[in-house]
Formats: sequence, C-alpha cells, structure tokens
Amino acid sequence: MKISEYFRTAKGRGVIATADSSGKVDVAIYAVPHVIDDQNVAFIMADKLTHTNLQSNPHAAYLFTEEEEKFKGVRLFLTKTGEEKDPQKVDAFRRKEYPHLKGKDFLVYFRVDKVLPLIGAGAEYIPWIKLFLREETLSEFFRPLDMIKAPRLSLT
Ligand SMILES: Cc1cc2nc3c(=O)[nH]c(=O)nc-3n(C[C@H](O)[C@H](O)[C@H](O)COP(=O)(O)O)c2cc1C
Repeated sequence: MKISEYFRTAKGRGVIATADSSGKVDVAIYAVPHVIDDQNVAFIMADKLTHTNLQSNPHAAYLFTEEEEKFKGVRLFLTKTGEEKDPQKVDAFRRKEYPHLKGKDFLVYFRVDKVLPLIGAGAEYIPWIKLFLREETLSEFFRPLDMIKAPRLSLT
C-alpha cells in the first residue's frame, strides 16, 4: 500500500517529533498528514514549538498508531521542504474549522525520506519481537515488515 492510500482511510493517533538546531527534542500529538503525493505530505501547524523547531532544523519524525489494532501503524521520517502562510491555501487543506487559528497557522510541506512499520526496522528485529508476542499476533505483526523488501516509500 502507498502512503497516499494508507492515510486516505487510516484512523488513529499521530505524534510528531522535531528538534531545535542544538538537537533538543520536542514531541506533540498531531493529526493525520495531508498527502500531497507518494513522496510528500503536509501538516497544518499552529505557531508553536513544533513549527518553531522546523525553522532551524528541517528534520522530523511522525509516528502513527492505528485506532483499531494494537501495535499497528507506521513511522515516517520527514524533511521539511517548504511552508505556506497564505490563509486561502492553508484553508484549502483544512479538515475542520478552528476559528481561533484562522490566519495564524501554516501549511508545512515535508518530503518523506523513509517509511518504517510501527515496530521493527528489518528482519534482525524478529527474534527479539518473538519474545514478547503470541503466535497469533505474530502473523499480523510481521505483515508490515514485508515492506522491508519493497521500495522504502511503500508500506507493503
Ligand atoms: C488529536 C489532536 C490532533 C492535533 N493535531 C494538530 C495539528 O495537526 N496541528 C497542530 O498545530 N496542532 C495539533 N494539535 C494540537 C497540539 O498537539 C498542541 O498544540 C501541542 O501542545 C503542540 O505542541 P508543541 O508546542 O510542542 O508544538 C492536535 C491535538 C490533538 C489532541
């Protein structure tokens, strides 16, 4: 599955991690990204620490856990490519109205550098995971790991 298809229907919770230029890390709950295409996403960002950090350090990571299933989700490794302040352009992406934020937030674009499953980065993690999961959970759990054999930007 491609990230565009995945985030079109995925329901769950996301967190975004950023850091300032000295490497001091921040993390915040964030909505599902707006998919531009299979290599690019965008988030609407209030002018808070996440957004401030991205002014001096373009790197971010977004972790998404699905609502319905434990331990299913995805991690996106991102690099900021630009941002938009024009309220009309930001509004074009908005899913919900937040009147107090109107004209004060930003549409921030990212390139997706790498996609990983929620847990594990490759076959070397499998023996370790087996210690913690029952057999019936394993087949579900390993499904996202198949992406390791596929191009990095694909989920399966
Ligand atoms: C479910 C949920 C989704 C959120 N999505 C966003 C979002 O997409 N953009 C945003 O600017 N804030 C969003 N927030 C609000 C931020 O989590 C909140 O302002 C946070 O304190 C920002 O942290 P920071 O100051 O470290 O950037 C969301 C909050 C919740 C509960």
